[in-house]
Amino acid sequence: SRRAFLGAGAAIGGLALLAPTRTGAARAPFDPQSFAPTREVTLTAGEMELKLLGPDKPATRILAYDGIPFQTLRMPRGTRLKATFVNGIDEGSTLHFHGIRMPNEFDGVPTLTQPLVQPGGRFNHLLPLDDPGTFFFHPHCDETGQAGKGLAGVLIVEDTRDPAFDAEHVLCLKDWRLAPDGRFLALSEPEGASKAGTFGATRTVNGAAAVELTAPAGGHVRLRILNIDSTRIMDIGVEAGGAKDAEAWLIAVDGHALTPVRLDDLPDGVWRMGPAQRIDLDIRMPANGSPVTLGDYRAADIYQFATLTAAGKVAKPRKGPLALPKPELPKPDVKKASRLSFTLQQATGQAVKDLALPADDPLAKALIDSLCVGSTTYWGIQSESWPTGSNRNVPPPLARMATGGSYVVEIKNETRFPHPVHLHGHAFEVLSSSLDRLPRHFADTVLVQPGEAVEIAFVAAPGDWVFHCHILEHMETGMMGWFRIV
Ligand code: C2O
Ligand code: CU
Repeated sequence: SRRAFLGAGAAIGGLALLAPTRTGAARAPFDPQSFAPTREVTLTAGEMELKLLGPDKPATRILAYDGIPFQTLRMPRGTRLKATFVNGIDEGSTLHFHGIRMPNEFDGVPTLTQPLVQPGGRFNHLLPLDDPGTFFFHPHCDETGQAGKGLAGVLIVEDTRDPAFDAEHVLCLKDWRLAPDGRFLALSEPEGASKAGTFGATRTVNGAAAVELTAPAGGHVRLRILNIDSTRIMDIGVEAGGAKDAEAWLIAVDGHALTPVRLDDLPDGVWRMGPAQRIDLDIRMPANGSPVTLGDYRAADIYQFATLTAAGKVAKPRKGPLALPKPELPKPDVKKASRLSFTLQQATGQAVKDLALPADDPLAKALIDSLCVGSTTYWGIQSESWPTGSNRNVPPPLARMATGGSYVVEIKNETRFPHPVHLHGHAFEVLSSSLDRLPRHFADTVLVQPGEAVEIAFVAAPGDWVFHCHILEHMETGMMGWFRIV
């Protein structure tokens, strides 16, 4: 067991609860005309070669933005970002900034918020980056294919109010489905799509089998860990080989600070993390210079992906945890909130209902050629499935909500598989889990276990926002719906 490898203390019963956060200042309505960019980037999707199987093995033709696998953009909080997406691949795509609260028109969901960007085409996104944290970006069309081949990047919004860490590293975890000649195997198989997903056997961090990182002995290192796999749920844990003064704290989830929780106080001493979820850890390195390792402990076959080795040492060790400033997010009024409940289901197999939108609705008009979906329906939310195959009928919204209203949404998982559920355009507060396994925290994606009911709460932001499972095959075979917020 890896329990209590860190520190000597036994787990304290129960989890630390997040103290209430204050409501961020109300924002002025967004006006693209008066948007003055302070930073401009162009992100071009294209093919490149990467040796994923090993230095002496054949390379793989992956997809990346600007020829940089998992390119990391760092920007100060408050940046007004103009990001131009250029589609340099041979199929339609869009760019989606996951977890960023933004005007709906820049959300990158084809048919719902913008037309698909055809090969050679481009699209401008105007993004006010007001929330600090660890975010990422990826396509929102044929994600199993495009993200599955590596198309993703990291967006770090930096906050000058953060405590000073002695080191910082970014870790992008992703598996690949490769044949021995380096080519991709089928990225989705019915057996996987209808169950836990189609797994890759080549496990990587930052495109390598494992990484060796450094941090000063006795220092605090900040790790930003992203699960950008299409499918795999990971149990992230830390081992310090018995060094009693080492410690690891969870300090942010999906970019948003929470009251630090010792990993040792979490069930099994790990944070369970589904696709698209991110965490920030504060690790206090042993003062004697011994190494710390990080791994995914979920499978019997433990995957150790990073080693932190001491390089130098800090003059004055700090106790920690080094907590991040509390998030300034709209705070839902849970008592007065409207309550809704949605059930994640295996698809019943029946055809989805006819399009329940008037013909002049912009969404109905936008249903042109590609819905960027899979060929078969295996999943649904509330007996509705996002269309698959030749079905062009986008179901009616799962809910209509009022801008500025507080909502508590219960997500019930009636299937036999876990689902990381993501809502676009919002940071929601995870209020409770029927399995009582989660600290209260803000997030944009929450893992819902089989038989579990999780409650989230948020202040509704205007737009048409999708709500879907982030196991990409599940999303593409029906487990997606949307909220219309007016
Ligand atoms: Cu990572 Cu629909 O998003
Ligand atoms: Cu799912």
